[in-house]
Amino acid sequence: MSTATMSGPEVSTPNDLCNGQMKAVKVGENQNVLLIKVQDKYYATTAKCTHLGAPLEKGVLTSDGRLTCPWHGACFDVKTGDIEDAPAMHCLKTFTSRIEGDQVVISVSQEALKEPRPLPIRGSRKRKEITAVIIGNGVGGQSAAESLREYGFNGRVVVVGKEPYLPIDRTKLSKSLDNTAEKIALRKQEFYTEREIELKIGEEVKSVDFDKKVVTLADGNTQDYSYLVISPGSTPRKLDLPGANLKNVHVLRSLTDNNDLQKALTAFPKPNVVIIGTGWIGMELGSVMAKDGKAKVTIVDKGDIPLKPVLGYDIGKFIKRWHEANGIKFISNTGPKKFVASEDDPAKVGSVLLDNGQTVSADVVLVAIGAGPATEWLKPSPLLNDDGSITVNKYLQVESRKEVFVAGDVAKFPVSDSRNVRVEHYNVGRNTGREIGRNISIAAAAAEKDSTKAPKFTPFTKVPYFWSVQWGKSIRYAGSGPYDEVYIEGDLTSKKGEDTSFAAYYAQNGKVVAVASLNKDPVVSQFSELARLGRCPSLAEIKAGKDILTVPIGPASESCGNPNL
Ligand SMILES: Cc1cc2nc3c(=O)[nH]c(=O)nc-3n(C[C@H](O)[C@H](O)[C@H](O)COP(=O)(O)OP(=O)(O)OC[C@H]3O[C@@H](n4cnc5c(N)ncnc54)[C@H](O)[C@@H]3O)c2cc1C
Ligand code: FES
Repeated sequence: MSTATMSGPEVSTPNDLCNGQMKAVKVGENQNVLLIKVQDKYYATTAKCTHLGAPLEKGVLTSDGRLTCPWHGACFDVKTGDIEDAPAMHCLKTFTSRIEGDQVVISVSQEALKEPRPLPIRGSRKRKEITAVIIGNGVGGQSAAESLREYGFNGRVVVVGKEPYLPIDRTKLSKSLDNTAEKIALRKQEFYTEREIELKIGEEVKSVDFDKKVVTLADGNTQDYSYLVISPGSTPRKLDLPGANLKNVHVLRSLTDNNDLQKALTAFPKPNVVIIGTGWIGMELGSVMAKDGKAKVTIVDKGDIPLKPVLGYDIGKFIKRWHEANGIKFISNTGPKKFVASEDDPAKVGSVLLDNGQTVSADVVLVAIGAGPATEWLKPSPLLNDDGSITVNKYLQVESRKEVFVAGDVAKFPVSDSRNVRVEHYNVGRNTGREIGRNISIAAAAAEKDSTKAPKFTPFTKVPYFWSVQWGKSIRYAGSGPYDEVYIEGDLTSKKGEDTSFAAYYAQNGKVVAVASLNKDPVVSQFSELARLGRCPSLAEIKAGKDILTVPIGPASESCGNPNL
């Protein structure tokens, strides 16, 4: 923290930054601004990330002024405060500054620091003859809607969404069981009203006529579109086993699922919970339910190591030990055969019979065995791949239907090495939605001027960035792709996440394709920027001691300390 002198609405601090450096400057009891120097100029912004409040001075700054948050990858342009990447919810506020002798003077008032700077509204509903219809009121659909207005779309924006509440931050559903629609809403109703976004909440699309450009809703109503965004997310996989329909056998996707699970748990003083599956949702909810001994949790795993396909054997094994140390029991290399009714109430589950012959008591069961694209309602359609996903080009557009775009979990999009991937990450939903809103705005504006010319889009090149919270600690992960080698920096011998710090590098043929970390910020944010620019060192270099935090990012300029230059 830098020393500063406050005088009225101005604060001064020593003029001691070099290009690429930043410092938090105290401007009140609990308030800071962030002073940044890039390309020989000072910029001052709010100091906390607008997603969940991370201290941005601990983030990754490139020499051309992109600042990436250390926690979940939100990125801002420090010159304008504008959002570059998800999951930021608001822009950063910017403040003017000037140099006076050996001081930098920042003009900032307490008043200005109070409210976040909302997304700009550059479009309205004035061109009623064009309509963007968005299928899905999750993060992909919601982000597309707000970004249409941010980038100046002047037609109607209609969001049709099955869930009967305003779009929510779905990631919170596995971090806590105490959720309400208000608590986890991405935006309040006023936000949509102000932007003239029409929300058809609690309504379901049953079919799309792509030739006529019409969607039909479950109640038989139809809606024409000029542009269509498909973002229906995923459907949790269920088990087709005897007893699977008994009460207290749950899956988790919606707020309703989350509330139902909470209700089932609170009916018992200390419930026996069986979780089927060791993916992210099972592991996160296991830690939530077992916290402080609230529930006795058993996790049943077809394999032997949780999260092994993504994080590899060693990290998976560490996570397993960490959960065991907190009281969770694992039963490995087996699966459920039957859900057995409770003797007290035959409508409810009472135990789970496993393939290995073992029976485990279960007041509540959570089936967390992954999810697949929620596109059953579109079948049959030539747009759908066998797995239910929809392939798009680098502009997130269906190649054969240029007015149709796909966001979020359902989109199969090309990544830099020409592979097509489908990624179930919150940031991918938000970034694809934002990019689509921008592309449709560009297309609509171009068509208004000259419909014969192809609009100029920029390709979608964001590096997937993911996080998971276990026992209150965040595991971060950026990148994607198969790997044939994992190199871990850190000591995994402790059983406690709070005592452990690691960075794991996943490489294919020596090229680092992904990085995961625990308590080692901002290594994952640094990797996501290096991967974006194709500048990450090889695994051999990292093994030889190269620290990725010292690799330059962005165009070179004069520096006196920031390794990123
Ligand atoms: C419990 C949980 C925790 C998660 N935690 C994390 C995390 O910590 N970090 C992370 O990166 N990712 C996390 N994810 C993944 C992330 O939430 C998803 O990748 C993201 O929500 C995908 O956005 P989407 O818009 O594609 O789909 P969704 O958010 O699922 O939204 C799709 C919406 O479309 C609606 N819909 C579906 N079909 C229709 C139809 N026919 N008509 C109208 N509406 C329809 C659905 O009801 C839903 O409201 C988590 C997911 C879950 C379920
Ligand atoms: S707090 Fe910054 S990205 Fe989440």
